[in-house]
Amino acid sequence: MNKNYIKLVTTGRYVPEKVMTNDDFAAFLDTNDEWITTRTGIKRRHVAADDESAIDLAYKAALNAIDNAKYDVNKIDLIVVATITNPMKSPSIANLVQAKLGLNEHHVMTFDINAACSGFVYALEIASSMIGSGNYKSALVIGAEEMTSILDYKDRGTCILFGDGAGAAILEPTDDPNYQVHFYNGSRGDDTGILWIDPLVKMDGREVYKFATDIMPKAIDQVLKKANLTLEDIDLIIPHQANIRIIQSVAKDMNLPIERFLVNIDEYGNTSSASIPILLDEFKQKNKAPKRALMIGFGGGFTWGAAILMV
Ligand code: UT7
Repeated sequence: MNKNYIKLVTTGRYVPEKVMTNDDFAAFLDTNDEWITTRTGIKRRHVAADDESAIDLAYKAALNAIDNAKYDVNKIDLIVVATITNPMKSPSIANLVQAKLGLNEHHVMTFDINAACSGFVYALEIASSMIGSGNYKSALVIGAEEMTSILDYKDRGTCILFGDGAGAAILEPTDDPNYQVHFYNGSRGDDTGILWIDPLVKMDGREVYKFATDIMPKAIDQVLKKANLTLEDIDLIIPHQANIRIIQSVAKDMNLPIERFLVNIDEYGNTSSASIPILLDEFKQKNKAPKRALMIGFGGGFTWGAAILMV
């Protein structure tokens, strides 16, 4: 079996019910709906309940993925969670999801990774490689964030951007060559504090914007080259949701209609590592037939993640 053939057998998501609108921010900050909408595309974001953390969001997204396919949870032997908002240094969220799923008596490897908004794509590469090694047969990969727990609500340039949520996918090996996966994940160390969480989000928005609009088309080109494919071979593009203007700029740069990109930023804002798997699950619940997707993320670190896979 070729080690790069990976099948997404199910996906799921969980987004908290509570919503914060742009007008809610205008009640305590010098901002307004018009500024936030035109500069970012964001109208609402979902906010975890007081008794909910990124651990709960991750677990609920995993349960949803399992329920959606009536998946046999006992098959899972690897759990990787991409997150920057675990309320604890240890245990990892992945480790706690194992316990909540009742898998403590099973042989499962669990760990979290920190690659900010590129985290889910990084986690997909890690899980795919581990499946490719032949040692794992069923990987639960989650992106989960309670971004609202690390926001400075006095900083109008950052706090209006982010929301909470989680998305999950289960991966298995397959011998179907159509399911070859390709990645172009990388990083450029941010040792000057352009986008740091220490302990709250601090960001030079313009610099991050420049980085994003520069790296996204480059990473898309690189992953297409690695896959020996062109944009014509791609059915859908799943971009990280940070700012609608960033997605529009990438579309323009690549001569693509904006309709080729999945977008839900108006409803959720930026959910960091959860944004790509939430979009993925929204798509999969409406489109069951396998499609070739290109995922493209960027984020703090700096990091970027590009993937081509069947979803
Ligand atoms: O996942 C990665 C996370 N981060 C990102 O992706 C962020 C990327 N950057 C961006 O999305 C944009 O840079 C922002 C949305 C953060 C800011 O948009 P911008 O068009 O780059 O605005 P700016 O920072 O250049 O600020 C323009 C003006 C400033 O006022 P002055 O100096 O011109 O008087 C800001 O103080 O807008 C002001 N401003 C606001 N005004 C109303 C900044 N935030 C707000 C706000 N409401 N919330």
